[in-house]
Amino acid sequence: MNSFGTLFRVTIFGESHGKALGITVDGVPPGIELKEDDFLRDLKRRKAGKKGTTPRKEPDIPQIISGVHEGFTTGAPLTILCRNENSRSGDYEKLKDIPRPGHADFTAGVKYFGFADRRGSGHFSGRMTLGLVAAGVIAKKVCRPMIFSSRILSLHGSSDFDREIREAIDAGDSIGGIIETTVDKVDPGLGEPFFGSVESLLSHIVFSIPAIRGIEFGDGFRAAEMRGCEHNDSIVEIDGKTETNHSGGINGGITSGNQVVFRAAVKPASSISLPQNTINVSTGKIEELTIEGRHDVCIPLRMPIVLEAASAIVFADLLLQRRAYLLSHESAIRKTRQERPENGLERNKR
Ligand SMILES: Cc1cc2nc3c(=O)[nH]c(=O)nc-3n(C[C@H](O)[C@H](O)[C@H](O)COP(=O)(O)O)c2cc1C
Repeated sequence: MNSFGTLFRVTIFGESHGKALGITVDGVPPGIELKEDDFLRDLKRRKAGKKGTTPRKEPDIPQIISGVHEGFTTGAPLTILCRNENSRSGDYEKLKDIPRPGHADFTAGVKYFGFADRRGSGHFSGRMTLGLVAAGVIAKKVCRPMIFSSRILSLHGSSDFDREIREAIDAGDSIGGIIETTVDKVDPGLGEPFFGSVESLLSHIVFSIPAIRGIEFGDGFRAAEMRGCEHNDSIVEIDGKTETNHSGGINGGITSGNQVVFRAAVKPASSISLPQNTINVSTGKIEELTIEGRHDVCIPLRMPIVLEAASAIVFADLLLQRRAYLLSHESAIRKTRQERPENGLERNKR
């Protein structure tokens, strides 16, 4: 099913060339100031337009359908919808029988017995991330004063972004890249030791984003090449602040109060102009496919805001869970404060 989260729960709906697409967020606390204009800045950051992104232009005007009254969230499910205004579905007609290598055409065909909406990649389009970005705007308000930021570290393994993009366009090909996300002013104590670990939840939502191929926290795979004395983060302050941050702000699945850091690998878009071989599922014969239509040569250019939003959704959920936990364990907290007032619980209270 297409829902994610426990107390801040998002459900994505729509298709790339359908009437509209968006997101419903259940569990938004009542009383948060919210208007349609609040979404514009982040939605603009996701839009195409830069060299290396799809020529498809969409206005992406958000409409609040439910969950807000007189400028404040009501606590009821909150739906944000954007209408699709600029689809050219004819470009996808031939893909009905000839699935693109590396895309979801074949797998969607199998799973939905051929009924999946193929137009513009349907529900598998990168356009679906619009809903995530919209939910991220609300999540960031829930998470205040946390600060979410993402940036491109490399494209096609290089820091010369302009050259890589130019060369990929000239070659009729596509490129991927690595995006780093940081979260500052994080409360300590968020997350669970096992299945609900902060890394598991962030990985879950990040791998839900189309075109993600990997994720690492803190030093990630480089940790395997280090010794303990290099990798350990010395705790230097009573609030848990560490001298270094090799573990990326998470220990035992729980935030330590230090900056949370992770990097995600984005693959090159599968829709490229170069001819590729694929099977025709009607004839069973291998055919040469040249993909037409409007595509992103460099998906990572559009990813930073998507990853910020995805992280904010996870942290909004974790924060609401932490508040519920603190409320339901009030007597234990009171007892600890009386017996050991110095043990730091006070500082974790929000
Ligand atoms: C913002 C964004 C834009 C994307 N644009 C394209 C595109 O123009 N062409 C394409 O083939 N894939 C594009 N993708 C990737 C596909 O949606 C994705 O590869 C496909 O759904 C298959 O999923 P997978 O790559 O995770 O296996 C985009 C993804 C994102 C997040």
